[in-house]
Amino acid sequence: MVAATQQETQVPTARRWRGNAAVGALAATLLITGVLALSGAPFLLPALVGAIVIAVAALARPRAQRQMAAEMTLSQENVRAGIQAIVSGFADPVVVLDAQGNVTMFNAQAKAALPQLGIGRPLSFAVRSPEVVSAVERVLREGAVAETEFHEKVPVERSFEVRATPVRFDAAPAGATSSAIEIVMLFRDVTAARRLERMRVDFVANASHELRTPLASLYGFIETIEGPAKNDPAAQARFLAIMREQARRMSRLIDDLLSLSRIELKEHVHPTEDVRLDSVLSEVVDTLTPLALECRTKIVLEGANRVLVTGDRDELIRVFENLIENAVKYGQSGGRVDVALVDGERAASVTVRDYGPGIAPEHLPRLTERFYRVDVAESRQKGGTGLGLALVKHILNRHKARLLVRSELGAGASFEVVFPKPQGGESPGA
Ligand SMILES: Nc1ncnc2c1ncn2[C@@H]1O[C@H](COP(=O)(O)OP(=O)(O)OP(=O)(O)O)[C@@H](O)[C@H]1O
Ligand SMILES: [Mg+2]
Repeated sequence: MVAATQQETQVPTARRWRGNAAVGALAATLLITGVLALSGAPFLLPALVGAIVIAVAALARPRAQRQMAAEMTLSQENVRAGIQAIVSGFADPVVVLDAQGNVTMFNAQAKAALPQLGIGRPLSFAVRSPEVVSAVERVLREGAVAETEFHEKVPVERSFEVRATPVRFDAAPAGATSSAIEIVMLFRDVTAARRLERMRVDFVANASHELRTPLASLYGFIETIEGPAKNDPAAQARFLAIMREQARRMSRLIDDLLSLSRIELKEHVHPTEDVRLDSVLSEVVDTLTPLALECRTKIVLEGANRVLVTGDRDELIRVFENLIENAVKYGQSGGRVDVALVDGERAASVTVRDYGPGIAPEHLPRLTERFYRVDVAESRQKGGTGLGLALVKHILNRHKARLLVRSELGAGASFEVVFPKPQGGESPGA
């Protein structure tokens, strides 16, 4: 990255001067030759030849100068090729802009992070962030480094720290008075760090609230065991069983929170295993059959055989455990839960349907929020933490699968998971 040289500003002046001198010398020579020829003075001929040689040599100098300029242009191209190589070598996204804010170079990482990037296009086409646009303007105005952050919510949540540095590449066209300012934009993906920060804040706000209930109950029983039930072994045994259940609840909450944070961290990394959905479903149904019996509900599994999707088996088990467990727990009054697996040309889908009380429409958009519950007391009483559907959503995002929830009050609920198949209708790994 080279600053504009003083040489460039001097070249045109020097070239003009030499050109003028050459033309002057040639004109003077021709004039003297004419006068001498007319006046018939042969003794001055050697001097005249010398003058003509000097004039021709002077005329030839601008050509040498042109060649030098061409070589400079060539070396400037080399400089740009070198800069492109350096830009390509960065592990983080790098974009170079000209003085108009148009993209002149970028590396593969930048294209992957900002797919709308294109040479000659304004950066704002690819980065829709007023903060980044104003950082670029600031660099152009003040010629100093500017730093900002850039957040994006769709298609997946991402955050970048952006550093915009002004530079002058020695790449101005030959003869220009100086090279224009350009901007090197360095993007650093801080998505994971920001998510961790937010997780910490959420944890403090929501988990402390959720932990308070079992903790208060634990304190209450400890005081009872130490006081009124001090000499009552039967009551102590009963209270200890409740205390164990409260402690189990607290540890489940912490496990769920940690799973959620782990899945969120790798949400933009797609799983690669081939997973048989039919075997995942029969395993989950087997696991939940005792709970269904307890709730006097029947789980009916039906549908296709050998359905393959690309995924993470343990995570998919978690998804269907949550959905079927919810249907059993909250829809138990319906007495039946249907689990249907359909293998279509464009997608494979699993629908979990119950015939319980259903969910009012105003709750549907918020069901996958952390700790969101339609009836907090009912969920708590059933051992719920309100994290199940949040986990489902994050796992499915990672699998590029969709969750469709349909419900009407009094008519049960259906949760459909759709795994789109790659273009061409082939089942992955089949
Ligand atoms: N099939 C269903 N029928 C009626 N309500 C449901 C159904 N599934 C989920 N809900 C409602 O959505 C809420 C959120 O569900 P989610 O699975 O996220 O949490 P949870 O079941 O309460 O706790 P956890 O899954 O952590 O045990 C539930 O508390 C319940 O109110
Ligand atoms: Mg649940």
